[in-house]
Amino acid sequence: MAAENINDTIELLNGQLKLASPQEVLDYFCRHYEGHIAFSSSMGAEDQVITEMLSKGGKAVKIFTLDTGRLFPETYELIDKTRSYYRIHIEVMFPDREAVENMVNSKGVNLFYESIENRKLCCHIRKVESLKRALSDMDVWITGIRKDQTLNRFNTRLVEWDETYSLIKVNPLLKWTEKMVWKYIRDNHIPYNELHDRGFPSIGCQPCTRAVTPDDDPRSGRWWWEDKGPKECGLHVKE
Ligand code: ADX
Ligand code: SF4
Repeated sequence: MAAENINDTIELLNGQLKLASPQEVLDYFCRHYEGHIAFSSSMGAEDQVITEMLSKGGKAVKIFTLDTGRLFPETYELIDKTRSYYRIHIEVMFPDREAVENMVNSKGVNLFYESIENRKLCCHIRKVESLKRALSDMDVWITGIRKDQTLNRFNTRLVEWDETYSLIKVNPLLKWTEKMVWKYIRDNHIPYNELHDRGFPSIGCQPCTRAVTPDDDPRSGRWWWEDKGPKECGLHVKE
């Protein structure tokens, strides 16, 4: 698609879906991009909402999760629970074995605490590379991003052209608040990560996530030892 056409398409879709609910947005893309649409789930609260909506929509969508090898036991439990609850296939993506071995053998298993550079390297090898593979033959990527999660996400749009992966990125819950997410989870009896009840509003890898208090920024438990820079692992940062 020529650059002009892509931008026109994105503008058109954003205009057309401006007033649509997240369910309607998902239904639209599932209908128009069947077989070429993928949803990345970290099994977080927002992602569980989207899984529920996709199952209500009833169309085939590739659902995948990036297993970094360092997730919480509760997250692994939820992968299987979600699989059987919705009777769906969740594709588990692993990082490249050789790349992980080289990294931990040269820099240590917990290299991420040493420097931001090491942390970004680990996220790149354990997440970003797997994401690239998962999205390689897709036209549309659905995420659970919300505007108020990070400063970086504030300017995100409902439908975007993602240069890094050359596809349309759709963020159906963009305008939802945390409260709306939890209302939907309770109203629909959706299975969720039990860590959310133990002070973990945002859940990533085990060594890089800790509990926060209700007064803290919900993302402050992610890479908590870093005081500078955006709290992003690179999945949603333009390269
Ligand atoms: S992160 O960049 O800080 O790790 P966050 O946890 O906020 O991301 O999740 C935002 C969205 O990124 C999720 O809704 C999901 O679409 C995607 N995502 C994050 N982590 C994973 C993962 N491990 N597997 C699949 N998708 C993920
Ligand atoms: Fe590595 Fe931590 Fe990033 Fe997970 S969140 S990939 S353990 S640096």
